[in-house]
Amino acid sequence: MSKNNEELFKNVVSHSKEYGFVFPSSEIYDGLSAVYDYGQLGSELKNNIKTYWWKSMVQMNENIVGIDAAIFMHPKVWKASGHVDGFADPMIDNKDSKKRYRADNLIEDKIARYAKDGKLDKAEKLQADMDAALNAEDLPKLKALIEEHEIVCPVSGTRNWTDVRQFNLMFSTQMGAMAEGSDEVYLRPETAQGIFVNFLNVQKTGRMRIPFGIAQIGKAFRNEVIARQFIMRMREFEQMEMQFFVKPGTEMEWYAHWKEARLKWHLALGTIKDKYRYHDHTKLAHYANAAVDIEFEFPFGFKEVEGIHSRTDFDLSQHEKFSGKKLQYFDTQENKNYVPYVIETSIGLDRMFLLTLCNAYEEQDLSTDEKQDSRTVLHLHPCLAPVKAAVFPLTKKDGLPEKAREIMDQLKLDFNLQYDEKDSIGKRYRRQDAIGTPVCVTVDHQTLEDNTVTIRHRDSMEQERVSATDLENIIGKMVSWKNLLS
Ligand code: GAP
Repeated sequence: MSKNNEELFKNVVSHSKEYGFVFPSSEIYDGLSAVYDYGQLGSELKNNIKTYWWKSMVQMNENIVGIDAAIFMHPKVWKASGHVDGFADPMIDNKDSKKRYRADNLIEDKIARYAKDGKLDKAEKLQADMDAALNAEDLPKLKALIEEHEIVCPVSGTRNWTDVRQFNLMFSTQMGAMAEGSDEVYLRPETAQGIFVNFLNVQKTGRMRIPFGIAQIGKAFRNEVIARQFIMRMREFEQMEMQFFVKPGTEMEWYAHWKEARLKWHLALGTIKDKYRYHDHTKLAHYANAAVDIEFEFPFGFKEVEGIHSRTDFDLSQHEKFSGKKLQYFDTQENKNYVPYVIETSIGLDRMFLLTLCNAYEEQDLSTDEKQDSRTVLHLHPCLAPVKAAVFPLTKKDGLPEKAREIMDQLKLDFNLQYDEKDSIGKRYRRQDAIGTPVCVTVDHQTLEDNTVTIRHRDSMEQERVSATDLENIIGKMVSWKNLLS
């Protein structure tokens, strides 16, 4: 990360804490690693991102419905899905620092260092050797690469390594009052399986005909060993996933459709296209016949935000095998039963949140020849902004607070608003800029005479005089979901 980007990212993280977006979990006890709480503005922003996703997937598509499955699932689900045996990372411990690392991350850092130092041949060779070792699940080879390239522990600086071992990422707990003799259950590591096990329930009760989708937003848990980059990699996080069930043989058309549709969803928020890129997978999971990541350019580089995967009939077939129940669809046109193929779209809500903050954050220098001035502003899309408008009485007297409260009362059922009468109007504008409020409404003495107010726009900082009776319409147009979804 360049110094500027490092600084920028540090500022985004501290801004998000200072203004009530994200707090470290259990902070008074010094926090819990890779776990975060969303504050009063963070939860509003998060809800707005969820609403945007839900509306675009469920409300705008007649053939997609949403569910809310439990976090706990029968333990056999995770046997069937392959998570019990295969959801693991290759880990290595440094005996001096007692720190644990993902072996592939250590090697990737070395590759990046070779590339930075212009040793491109070495970087390419190490990348190829690592890919081969990962593909073959050859753990001794990974250890040998770490030794051969003299990779040291970033904390102790030594090369005193243990062997590389697989470390399962699922959290488990006991179900029932007594730990002994009770069943081990897992906290789901993805929401997708809650959709697969409900495939027939939804298809039959909803009279769904293929192609159709089932969407879900919910918590997922992974015992990530390396917690990095704030809310980018968390141990408790949220996913917004949709499984689209299609006739076998048509999956590539639908894969292309969702690949394009999902990038459009991101771009509709007004982000410049260059900030996004597709990363097609060359190394596919055993159940996939195509996969792509949508990556965003964070201050720390391009990173995955969303995955689109063509999962074949793997999951439903596995659940048929492990449950002994048929999970098939009767196609009336074909007059036959089949296990549908699946296209999955899977986006991390917390990563989308971080993307939104990083993309919106700007430190602006507003200095003129006469005076020094600056502001920190979040250029959030009005639909996502936690507070839609702020209402200020110009002064705390002459009936202005009462008039401002009256205007608040007329609008607060439809919009999340803030009232502020403290400090100068300029300071109040700055506070709202910092949380991304699209407009501020000021009530002054003229308001008492003709019921007009001043609206000040966040991005342009321009002001206009409008009738207070038009506010509902003006703000409503600005934050309408039609701006994003039509
Ligand atoms: N059902 C497919 C699945 O779970 P994934 O690539 O492992 O695929 C999907 O996860 C998305 O979930 C990722 O693109 C990312 O946005 C998010 N995600 C995964 N692990 C995460 C973590 N530890 N913290 C935050 N978000 C995570």
